[in-house]
Amino acid sequence: AYTAEPFLPTGAGRGKAGLRALREAAAHCRGCPLHRDATRTVFGEGDPGARVLLLGEQPGDQEDRRGQPFVGPAGRVLDGALQEAGIDPAQSYVTNAVKHFKFGYASGGRGKRRIHKPPNLRELRACGPWLAAELALIAPEVIVVLGATAGKALFGSSFRVTQERGALIEQDVHGRNERVVATVHPSAVLRADDQDREAVREGLVSDLLVAAGALR
Ligand code: URA
Ligand code: SF4
Repeated sequence: AYTAEPFLPTGAGRGKAGLRALREAAAHCRGCPLHRDATRTVFGEGDPGARVLLLGEQPGDQEDRRGQPFVGPAGRVLDGALQEAGIDPAQSYVTNAVKHFKFGYASGGRGKRRIHKPPNLRELRACGPWLAAELALIAPEVIVVLGATAGKALFGSSFRVTQERGALIEQDVHGRNERVVATVHPSAVLRADDQDREAVREGLVSDLLVAAGALR
C-alpha cells in the first residue's frame, strides 16, 4: 500500500522546531503517486500552539504554485467565515488531508487549465501519517473538518458531511481522542448558484461558531 510512513522524520521534536522538521521531510515525500505531477508539497501552516486545526482536502492550483494551504479563492472564503465566527487566524493551524495537488486538464478553451480531482481513499490513507504527526504536535482543542473528503480522511469512507456537520463529535483519530466539528468545504460557497450562495456561506459560519463555542 502507498504510505508516507518511511518519509517521516524519527523524533521530529516539538514546537516550532518539530513542525519545521516535519515540513522539511514532507517536501521529499514520495509516499504515493501524487508527488509526480504536482509542483511541490503543500504542508500545513500556523502556530504549533494553535487551538483550532482546520482540515481541508488538498492544495488547489494556487496553493500548488505558492506552496501554502488555502491561499486561493477557497482560502478567501474561509478567512472571511473564520473572522465572522470569531476564530482568530493566529490561533489556527491550516492543513490538508492530502499534501499534493491532484489534478486533470480541462479540455477546450484557451490554454490548459488544471482542474482539481478528488483524492481517493488510498491516497488519503497514504498521506495520513503526516496528518497524524501534525495532530500529535499541535494537539488542537478542536479539529474543523472542511468537507466530505477531509471527513473521510478522519472517519473513513462512510462519512457524510450532511449528516455530521455542525455538531461536536468526540472520536478516536489516529490514536488520539479528538473533538471534531465538520462543515462544508469553503469551495461549496464558490460553486453554489447565486441565489444559494449566501445560505451556504451562512451554514459554514454557523458550523464554525459551533467550533468556536467548543474552545475551552
Ligand atoms: N482547498 C483545500 O481543500 N485546501 C486548500 O489548501 C485549498 C483549497
Ligand atoms: Fe506523500 Fe501525501 Fe504527497 Fe502522497 S500526497 S506523496 S503521501 S505528501
